[in-house]
Amino acid sequence: MNELTRRDFARSAGLASALSYSRILGANDRVRLGYIGLGNRGDQVHEAFLEHGDCQTVAVCDLRDDYMDLAVKKSRATPRKYKEYKKVLEDRDVDAVVIATPDHWHALMFIDACNSGKDVYVEKPLSLTVHEGRKMVETAERTKRVVQVGTDRRSWKTYKEAVDFVRSGGIGHVSVARCFHIRNEWPNGLGPAPDGPPPSEWEWDQWLGPAPKVPYNRNRAYYNFRWFYDYSGGQLTNFGVHYVDVIRWLLGQDSPRAVTALGGQYAGIRDNREIPDTLEVLWNFDGPTLVVFSQFNANAAPGNVKDSEIELRGTKGTMYIRAMSWEVVPERTTEEYIGYDQGKGYGNPVDRTASRRYSASLKPAMEPIPLRGSAGYDTIPHARNFLDCIKSRSKCNADILTGHLSTSATLIGNIALKTESHLKWDARAERFTNKPEANRFLQYQYRAPYKLI
Ligand SMILES: NC(=O)c1ccc[n+]([C@@H]2O[C@H](COP(=O)([O-])OP(=O)(O)OC[C@H]3O[C@@H](n4cnc5c(N)ncnc54)[C@H](O)[C@@H]3O)[C@@H](O)[C@H]2O)c1
Repeated sequence: MNELTRRDFARSAGLASALSYSRILGANDRVRLGYIGLGNRGDQVHEAFLEHGDCQTVAVCDLRDDYMDLAVKKSRATPRKYKEYKKVLEDRDVDAVVIATPDHWHALMFIDACNSGKDVYVEKPLSLTVHEGRKMVETAERTKRVVQVGTDRRSWKTYKEAVDFVRSGGIGHVSVARCFHIRNEWPNGLGPAPDGPPPSEWEWDQWLGPAPKVPYNRNRAYYNFRWFYDYSGGQLTNFGVHYVDVIRWLLGQDSPRAVTALGGQYAGIRDNREIPDTLEVLWNFDGPTLVVFSQFNANAAPGNVKDSEIELRGTKGTMYIRAMSWEVVPERTTEEYIGYDQGKGYGNPVDRTASRRYSASLKPAMEPIPLRGSAGYDTIPHARNFLDCIKSRSKCNADILTGHLSTSATLIGNIALKTESHLKWDARAERFTNKPEANRFLQYQYRAPYKLI
């Protein structure tokens, strides 16, 4: 047996025994959950699951005791506390895990969890690189795990109605979809933070995991990691992945054909962030539709008249989506021709009849759809869907492939920015075709001893 075959064999033998511990759960059973990462988001997802009576917190894991203690207090149970995530995976009382660690940890923890026979709820963005995401898809499929990716808008009923409406042609052909992450972080942003000794060497080493070893810096760790590329794709993969995911869903499209981006740190925000404060990413999707993500972090003027997060420009109407609500404002169109017509038409200063006729004939192309849905953001339905799918062994609303395709679309935006390119994307091969050197950004070298597979 060569080395590779031996490793595969050992892994599948381990997997067979791990999977044999997996319980078959009936409709009335309680799902026993282990939480890995209980910071800002882990706490929110924990609360969402606690709304459902048919699950129980049996294990909590974080590098920080104060975060674990809070989770234990909220759990209405007596979960075991672990500082090492592999201990959660070894715990046979755990049916499924919730992974809400920083992005650079998702792939390793996810693959280990699948190989341990646990079903997985993993936060968005699915991965730090396209290559990691593909390996996560392959692992989930090989191990037959039920997976929910944290793009929780997929479980909102009002969004499903919006999808049905757009896909049935309700707003006509969508030529442009735009989305926005707008917040003015000038002048101080994250504030100054010098490198220094970490509160605990062990904790910092564990926090960094596969990422490069760098001195501790308060602005890199915990919530702030999303401003640094070693741990995150920035706001493009943080907020952008939610929006691009919804846009893909609305349009019924899998992957873009091309991507380009421009941006940078234009406003001189006084911190050590690596990501741009100003960024525009553009994708071409089949449809055809131009999709645009705008990140304006040095000015907070609304991105459009409705200050929405997502805007779909259809030939018959514009759909505005914000939080859990949406509305449609009709376009006004006419069968008249626009333009200069044999000297008598539009744009002729001697005779303005045609332009007046054109304006007078404009009519609403559809009925308006007043605002429907509600304000706020709710993860409870997404948690419900995960629990149901664990029991029925069916695909979740945000299954692994859905999460991978949405995450990949955003990740390649960062590669276009980094390489200052207009990149053509072969979505089947998951490679760039017109600039081979850009393909090296599809994965990075893990710090030893970490290995993806
Ligand atoms: N779905 C959403 O709407 C949403 C919202 C916010 C964040 N998120 C995602 O959730 C994830 C976490 O973000 P956050 O804001 O909660 O960050 P955070 O820094 O507040 O929390 C991450 C937690 O992971 C823990 N952690 C790090 N390395 C660990 C390790 N090796 N073992 C165990 N625990 C470890 C940290 O101690 C920390 O408590 C990110 O991927 C983020 O994109 C999703």
